[in-house]
Amino acid sequence: MDILLSEAQIQERVRQLGRRIEAEYHGRPLTIVAVLTGSLVFLADLIRQIGLPLRVALLQASSYKGAVSTAGPLLLNEAFVPDVAGRDVLLLDDILDTGHTLSALVRQMTERGARSVRTVVLLRKLGRQEVHLEPDYCGFTIPDAFVVGYGLDYADDYRHLPYVAILPGSHPPPGAGG
Ligand code: XMP
Repeated sequence: MDILLSEAQIQERVRQLGRRIEAEYHGRPLTIVAVLTGSLVFLADLIRQIGLPLRVALLQASSYKGAVSTAGPLLLNEAFVPDVAGRDVLLLDDILDTGHTLSALVRQMTERGARSVRTVVLLRKLGRQEVHLEPDYCGFTIPDAFVVGYGLDYADDYRHLPYVAILPGSHPPPGAGG
């Protein structure tokens, strides 16, 4: 597989993101809400670079896809939804693709009374966004290819790779990712 982002590149960028987040929240306690499952590795590395009091919550979100690839409404597993009322929430995801997942979650967190909602993504795919959402913190902008590793999967494989690679000759499988 072609390595797109090496382990060293990712680690350095995650360190920078952590520094920025720490500086911009000025010691305010933070609630990081991560979207399962692809964001787990990024979450684990990023929180260790943020010297602030913080809580971590995990969300399971999925969208029913139509026959083509139009995303349906976002389904949230209520059992996972944290209490965010009055809190500064930082939504964390592995990759911003069409933008539907994160923009729906920003709305949800706001409706649930979060004091502020910002977003952080490791990756942002060029030319794929369907919904306007400017991530507050972004690791890397990448070309429109299906990527795996560092938490991202193909049929639940490859999540453990310490780098991000392009899956050769593949189009995203239906319902892939998460
Ligand atoms: P949207 O389109 O709502 O979705 O921004 C973001 C989610 O789509 C999945 N996704 C990928 N997963 N390799 C993956 O393993 C990819 O190249 C890829 N592109 C999108 C992922 O679950 C992400 O959270």
